This record gives sequence, C-alpha cells and structure tokens, in this order.
Amino acid sequence: MSNAWKNIKPDDYDAHMSHPNVAQIQMLSRIIKEQFELIPLERRSFSCAAILGITNGNGLEHVNPCGIGKVIGIDINSEFLNESRVRYPDVESKLELFQLDLMNDIFKTAEILSQCDLIIANLLIKHIHLNNFIKIISALPKHRQTVSCVIQVNPDGIAVSHSGFEHVFDEIAKLREEESEDLITQSMNENGFILTNRLLYDLPNGKLFIRLDYSAE
Ligand SMILES: C[S@@+](CC[C@H](N)C(=O)[O-])C[C@H]1O[C@@H](n2cnc3c(N)ncnc32)[C@H](O)[C@@H]1O
Repeated sequence: MSNAWKNIKPDDYDAHMSHPNVAQIQMLSRIIKEQFELIPLERRSFSCAAILGITNGNGLEHVNPCGIGKVIGIDINSEFLNESRVRYPDVESKLELFQLDLMNDIFKTAEILSQCDLIIANLLIKHIHLNNFIKIISALPKHRQTVSCVIQVNPDGIAVSHSGFEHVFDEIAKLREEESEDLITQSMNENGFILTNRLLYDLPNGKLFIRLDYSAE
C-alpha cells in the first residue's frame, strides 16, 4: 500500500500548518533554529545536520545565519523535496536531498546519517512509528551525534486542529501511532542515547510541542 504522505500537496500542507488555529509552521521554524544552535559555534561551519521529514524545507532559512556547513533532508514525498529546493535557493550548495521511506529504507538512511552531527526529527516519529525510528538510530555508528525530536501533545484529545484543510490528513491519520515520551526516552537509552534537554512550547488550542534532545553516552 502506498504511503498517504506521498499524496499531500505542498500548498495544502502549508495551508493547514500555518493556519492561525494551528501555527505549527512558525513554531517549528523557531525550534529548528534552536536545534541548529545545539551544534557548538566553533564546529558549525564544518558540521552536518539532517532533517528527517523535511517537508517543504521549513527552517532552512536558519542554515546560513546559524553557519551550518551542510544539511541533509529526507522525505518520502518528492514534491516536498522539490519545494525545499525551490524555496531555499540560498542554501542550494549546502543541501543534499534524498527521497527515502523511513519505514523501510533503514540501512540506506543510517548510512547517510552516519556523517551527521545533528539529527532532527520533528513531528515524524508518530508517522514512521517508534520501532522504525529506533531501527535507524540503532544502525548508526556510535559517535558524537545529537538527536533532537519534537512530539505533539493534545490535552484536548483532538490530534488535528481545525483549519478548514484538516481533511487533507484523513488518510494519514489511519497510519499514525500514538507517541509516548517515556517510551521514546527508554528506547533511546537502550541504544546509548541519554536525554540532555526537554523543552515545552505552547501552541494555540492548548496543544503543546515537547522537544527532546539526546546525546550519545
Ligand atoms: C508533519 S511533517 C514534519 C514537520 C515538518 N518538517 C514541518 O516543519 O512542518 C511529517 C513529514 O514526514 C514525512 N514522512 C512521513 N512518513 C514518512 C516516511 N515513511 N518516510 C519518509 N518521510 C516520511 C512526510 O512526507 C512529511 O513531510
């Protein structure tokens, strides 16, 4: 069965995610800047950061101001990858994009990520499922990587906010897995990564993002 994310159009994604009731594009952009800043300033110019589920390239506007040397973007949707290229011409020479299925292309992904200092996985784990995310993490050569991920908490019990465009995500909802912060941290611990930082970000409608940063022990 084809993954429903392949059918999402870049503009429909933006229309939902940047709607004032949702405002997640804006928050994720701010968070990616903070995640880039996890790389020590003196190492940034020759560092490599990976963004898993890069979508339309949200956050790439911070690559040059933060002085990041190279960015790897991975997504299953080729239209998203094209959009990332077109929207951010200023980072073209630093950007390497790969169309991969993170639920299946585990070893190819781990090989690509092995050169990275920072691995960002924002709002991704629920879509590729924790077991696949951990398979990728456990296949990485153990060195100094930082892994930073964002998960969403919905105290109102509603996974997708109202924007008028939420129907676009109906098929995706069928594949989505409930995320557990404790289970993510426990699984990361079992693979040699310890939690170094935990931050909360308030969203409209009482929703929250939790950012979890892990470093190799
Ligand atoms: C909610 S978005 C992530 C947040 C987004 N980067 C932003 O800043 O708005 C989820 C992304 O994961 C990608 N994705 C979902 N399942 C995937 C898979 N199996 N392999 C690769 N990418 C996948 C989707 O295409 C989408 O771009």
